[in-house]
Amino acid sequence: MGPEPQLLRLDGHDLPVCFRQGIKNETYPLPDRSKVLSKGTGPKELYVKKIRNGTVIDHILAGHALDVLKILGIHGGEGHIVSVAMNVISKKQNKKDIVKVENRELKPGEVDKIALIAPSATISIIRDYEVAEKTRVKLPDSIRGIVRCSNPACVSNAEPVEPKFTVERQDPLRLRCYYCVRIMEKADVLKQF
Ligand code: CTP
Repeated sequence: MGPEPQLLRLDGHDLPVCFRQGIKNETYPLPDRSKVLSKGTGPKELYVKKIRNGTVIDHILAGHALDVLKILGIHGGEGHIVSVAMNVISKKQNKKDIVKVENRELKPGEVDKIALIAPSATISIIRDYEVAEKTRVKLPDSIRGIVRCSNPACVSNAEPVEPKFTVERQDPLRLRCYYCVRIMEKADVLKQF
């Protein structure tokens, strides 16, 4: 049986959702409120344990962790150990989601995709328990090649041209196709993954 994630600090906030995927026979009892309440101004311990190697996507807008997994093509059968914490309280007292994928480092193209869905996220590459690289994702003013235009009649779907969009708004996402001016929103983007 693998190590249990620690579910701590409930003090009056919604129960955070934490789960791990990829470890068999692991159970997660609900935390005992009497043991986990933290009296200070911030959490005393982690919601999800630190990882040895892999990627941590932190500061995801609350409720969007599953969209991040979808973007990364993580559906459960890949065998990675994945920890997800949803609606946990950040240092700034806002709610956020966190995704930790063990033994997998994101590729640059994947980082760009995450920027579409979670523009405030940070991505940390963990090697031997240390944060080896940390970047805050950034959605540029225009994007190329990451998503296709949802208009079937768009020239970018008929000719060998690279799809290109102007980012009109980051949150909620609003993209405008460079070729046919079709507007794409987050739901249109997620359908492609
Ligand atoms: N982390 C992890 N395993 C490690 C090291 C770090 O899961 N071995 C996670 C931390 O829990 C955090 C993220 O990676 O979610 C970034 O780590 P770090 O920069 O040390 O955390 P903070 O300083 O708290 O980050 P921030 O200020 O961005 O909240």
